[in-house]
Amino acid sequence: MEISFDRPRAIQDGALVVGILDGGKLTDSAAAANKATDGALSRAIAVGRFKGQSGQSLELLVPAGTSATRLILAGLGKAEEFGAAAAERLAASIAGRLLVGGEDVLSFRLDRPKKSPLSEAELAAHLAFGAMLRSYRFDQYRSIKDEERPTLKRVVISTPEAAGARKFWTGLSALAEGMFLARDLVNEPANILYPDEFARRCAELRKIGVSVEILDVPAMRKLGMNTLLGVGQGSAHESRLVVMQWNGRRGTKPAKRSAPLAFVGKGVCFDSGGLSLKPAASMMGMKGDMAGAAAVTGALHTLALRKARVDVVGVIGLVENMPGAAAQRPNDIVKTMSGQTIEILNTDAEGRLVLADALWYTQSRFAPRFMVDLATLTGAILVALGGEHAGLFCNNDELAKAIVKAGAAEGEPVWRLPLGDAYDQMVKSKIADMKNIGGPHAGSITAAQILQRFVNKVPWAHLDIAGVAWQDGEQKPLVPSWGTGWGVRLINHLVDQYSD
Ligand code: BES
Ligand code: MN
Ligand code: ZN
Repeated sequence: MEISFDRPRAIQDGALVVGILDGGKLTDSAAAANKATDGALSRAIAVGRFKGQSGQSLELLVPAGTSATRLILAGLGKAEEFGAAAAERLAASIAGRLLVGGEDVLSFRLDRPKKSPLSEAELAAHLAFGAMLRSYRFDQYRSIKDEERPTLKRVVISTPEAAGARKFWTGLSALAEGMFLARDLVNEPANILYPDEFARRCAELRKIGVSVEILDVPAMRKLGMNTLLGVGQGSAHESRLVVMQWNGRRGTKPAKRSAPLAFVGKGVCFDSGGLSLKPAASMMGMKGDMAGAAAVTGALHTLALRKARVDVVGVIGLVENMPGAAAQRPNDIVKTMSGQTIEILNTDAEGRLVLADALWYTQSRFAPRFMVDLATLTGAILVALGGEHAGLFCNNDELAKAIVKAGAAEGEPVWRLPLGDAYDQMVKSKIADMKNIGGPHAGSITAAQILQRFVNKVPWAHLDIAGVAWQDGEQKPLVPSWGTGWGVRLINHLVDQYSD
């Protein structure tokens, strides 16, 4: 979809969106349209229940007196609350309605309400961002009937600050592209996207300046990554570890250049459970068990596209958890890269085994300023938080605060849960340094405790995204696909708090 920003013009073709303030008061553009149509807008508002409430809209088809094919009256709600999220949702819901409706141009002439927390330029850019996020489709695997084919090609945002809007849009369009990459990766089925294919897609990021290393099985064996390899050994597909680096502070004096920020992703391309096989219903959706890795990859894509002034490494552990003849067994004892041993009691608790080696590798090689992992780690996090918040576990209050703030600002909220010695006791093993599962309770916390055993002094956070990485129920306005791309926005926002 093409986005453009334009100075307000009197006449507009295609579908034209004008704003109605809370209470039904017309904005200037709405008043102009009302005049041109001989009062059609005020008459429509008078007979209906639409009074400019946030999230509501009303559509007038081929109104006499204008060149527009439709006039859409969009409720702006309370001016003070008309911020980035409201603007994105408004544009998304209208773009969603028009996407396959026959129209090819959609123009927004919203007139910024005076009390809006957004500047003119920001408002315009966030409208474009909402429409863009809603235009995402994943339909390369199905034949599309003509009437399902999107007709909307162009979104024009009228704004008195077109140049400023384009500047904000550069960052936001890079963000949309990173989110689309993450969504694509999550949506791809596991027969297409197995570890090596995922790694190849990461290698594509070299074209935009990301340095990408791919470690194969012998390389990982040499490093002693036995728990990561143990998860993958029952699959016909070989495991991979991908290291991506975006060095946005290249050229800065070494003395001024602090350690990189690190993001680590769980990349289980399919989680059958292994020999501790999942029941059929629980296996549904497990092609998405690499959503943490997808978020990290999407975020690096975004940071490189917008040339963020920050050094970031992304490390993703790519495996397929399958019950093949070579699969690891319950009761196996495996030695991690750190030297600690883990007794495998349930091969379905595999994400922590992958992350144990990936986290250890990342902190030993990069000594990062902080390390944040993202993982669809436990079903228990869905029990606790549903699909509304991701679970946050953190050994550092300052980092936790920054993550909570970034998530809230970006519509990817997180909720902090505790870590502690009493929980750590629950993963003690009689014959190894730890076992890979805790007791029947606090499953998300005991999983996080295992991860923490592979983290030394570095500030570290773990995001359990099992509840937010994909959506089975009703679609959210900005997320028109199964894979949500959750995490790209949060990471993109978080690194800005640590850049210069
Ligand atoms: N990938 C799953 C977690 C998951 C469950 C993600 C549902 C998304 C939706 C993870 O590998 C897993 O199987 N966890 C087990 C752990 C248990 C065996 C201790 C779980 O949550 O049941
Ligand atoms: Mn599992
Ligand atoms: Zn898993």
